Amino acid sequence: MSNDNKIGQRIALLRKQRGYTQEQISLTLNVTPQAVSKWEKGNALPDTPLLPPLAKVLGTSIDCLLTGDSLMEKVSPYDGDYKKEEYYWGLQHSLLAEQTVKIMQDKANKSLLDIGSGEGRDAIYFAKCGFQVDALEISTPGIKKIRQYSQAAGYEVSILQADMIGYELAVAYDVIYSHGSLQFLPLEQRQNHFDKYKRYTNIGGLNAHLIFVEKPFIKVAPDWEKNEFFYLSGDLAKYYYDWEILWCEEQIVDCNSAGIPHQHAVNSIIARKIERTF
Ligand SMILES: C[S@@+](CC[C@H](N)C(=O)[O-])C[C@H]1O[C@@H](n2cnc3c(N)ncnc32)[C@H](O)[C@@H]1O
Repeated sequence: MSNDNKIGQRIALLRKQRGYTQEQISLTLNVTPQAVSKWEKGNALPDTPLLPPLAKVLGTSIDCLLTGDSLMEKVSPYDGDYKKEEYYWGLQHSLLAEQTVKIMQDKANKSLLDIGSGEGRDAIYFAKCGFQVDALEISTPGIKKIRQYSQAAGYEVSILQADMIGYELAVAYDVIYSHGSLQFLPLEQRQNHFDKYKRYTNIGGLNAHLIFVEKPFIKVAPDWEKNEFFYLSGDLAKYYYDWEILWCEEQIVDCNSAGIPHQHAVNSIIARKIERTF
């Protein structure tokens, strides 16, 4: 990929993260929306005098915009843990992944998007169970671990290094899946992301998620970050009010992340997209 393309991708990524349209950026910089579109596609570069206001509106530095330094680094709170040799989340797949596989077992040629794949334990399990898997993960060390595990296990997954916030889906999937990652969606971005996941699911396909729920009697986990946002009981089922709910369960689970024993309230859902018959 050319450097212009990479700069364009960074502009698009940062713009979407901050929730701006191409038109809003163009108005701020006094250029046409077509100019912004050309930059993002890598067909042109912004003129030099535009770089300071562009970096400012995108909340970054000119250096970062041009080189990508620090943009893809340290963007996941788990980067440090993923750099270690051992697998932070282990290699055992989750219960939610297992339930999803059971429901889809009779379907041939099934595709799945795993959002926030971490080090790949569920993504590789899905590949092993016959899914064509796209593993979306922001962390560079996480992605290295997914590659390493996928090679060692002999099951291929296609890796998308991207920010889930504003990530534009290009194709529909049979399953859109996430395990413990959608708390990174800011509150104001949730509805449009769930709408997108539902739109990009094939009829008869599933969305399966595990999210963290706020409970007054459970302490916030020691490794909970500023950019993580709790859900409330019932939020997840509401997003899927018009789908068939196959499984929806709230549980209190023990966790030892950060090396300190604590608990989480989690809500898992598996919902199926049904063809409208009226
Ligand atoms: C709690 S971990 C769960 C990992 C994996 N799903 C599992 O269960 O083993 C959440 C994952 O979401 C990733 N993540 C955080 N913010 C993200 C973002 N904006 N875009 C994509 N992935 C993100 C983190 O890097 C991390 O790997």
